[in-house]
Amino acid sequence: MKDFKDKVLFITGAAHGFGQVIAEGAADRGMKIVMVDIDEPALKETYQTVLDKGAEALMITADVTKEDSVDDAVDQAMAKFGRIDLLINNAGIALPGRIWELPTRDWEWIMHINLMSQVYAMKRIIPIMIQQKTHADILNVASIAGLVDTPGMPSYHASKFASVGMTEATAYDLQRAGIDIDMHVMCPGFVQTDLYHTEQHRPAQYTDATDPYYQSEAFLKGQQFAKYVITNGKPIDTIADTVFKALEDNRFYVLTHPEFNPLIQDRVKRIVEDGAPDVHVMDGLM
Ligand SMILES: NC(=O)c1ccc[n+]([C@@H]2O[C@H](COP(=O)([O-])OP(=O)(O)OC[C@H]3O[C@@H](n4cnc5c(N)ncnc54)[C@H](O)[C@@H]3O)[C@@H](O)[C@H]2O)c1
Repeated sequence: MKDFKDKVLFITGAAHGFGQVIAEGAADRGMKIVMVDIDEPALKETYQTVLDKGAEALMITADVTKEDSVDDAVDQAMAKFGRIDLLINNAGIALPGRIWELPTRDWEWIMHINLMSQVYAMKRIIPIMIQQKTHADILNVASIAGLVDTPGMPSYHASKFASVGMTEATAYDLQRAGIDIDMHVMCPGFVQTDLYHTEQHRPAQYTDATDPYYQSEAFLKGQQFAKYVITNGKPIDTIADTVFKALEDNRFYVLTHPEFNPLIQDRVKRIVEDGAPDVHVMDGLM
């Protein structure tokens, strides 16, 4: 069984949802925790909870869409704990909106948070892990939306497919280089979190209140869709145990919703059998 005690976790998006429960689960396992999030008031609450559980922790308010902010957070983590054993790239947003409607700035925002924040952290933390010369793990939180496609949110799919592909390719590179870091990619289905409150975490550089899109019916419908699927998702209570069990078992793909497995199989079959996306496959599901 893997011993997490006294190991250092660096986790993004720790204020709400998955990040919050994983940080709390890490505290239960005796880990030291570096918690990064853009939402300072909510982060303070999670920070207090892990302190109350007896964990040593560091909270850092940062916008992880910016490379220099991630660099600074890593520097603070190293100054406090001197090592990082587990990186969990979890911060993310979901943006519904069809490609001919969603503003380009929203594409830039989602790619920077869901993909580039993971790149920035891995670029800085992998060399640190190599230097430590001890085993380390990296878990990127992608989504089932990184394995199967659905209508209505192409930007989310693009960012999550990219996260899955980057994690797989990095696993090859680490293996080939003989580096003792295990990669994992988490691909959950819908879980009840604050994910449909994405607008509350919109950084200033991606804001343009004058754009008529944000008053449009398409935008409001997209918001309602996101709220519907997330609030009807699974309860979050098993997520931390799922993550730590997957790390213990050294599972690469961390799946949480087996009911979506037929969709994964259907997609692969479509590819090798020269098929095409068929929206009717989604009937009753989305
Ligand atoms: N909830 C689901 O159904 C579901 C399903 C599949 C994958 N996911 C993924 O799980 C991850 C966590 O999402 P969640 O459901 O817990 O949502 P959430 O909104 O509850 O949590 C996301 C966290 O990321 C933080 N964040 C957002 N933008 C940030 C930024 N620029 N810099 C730093 N922190 C930022 C938020 O403040 C929040 O604390 C995301 O990557 C999401 O895509 C969620």
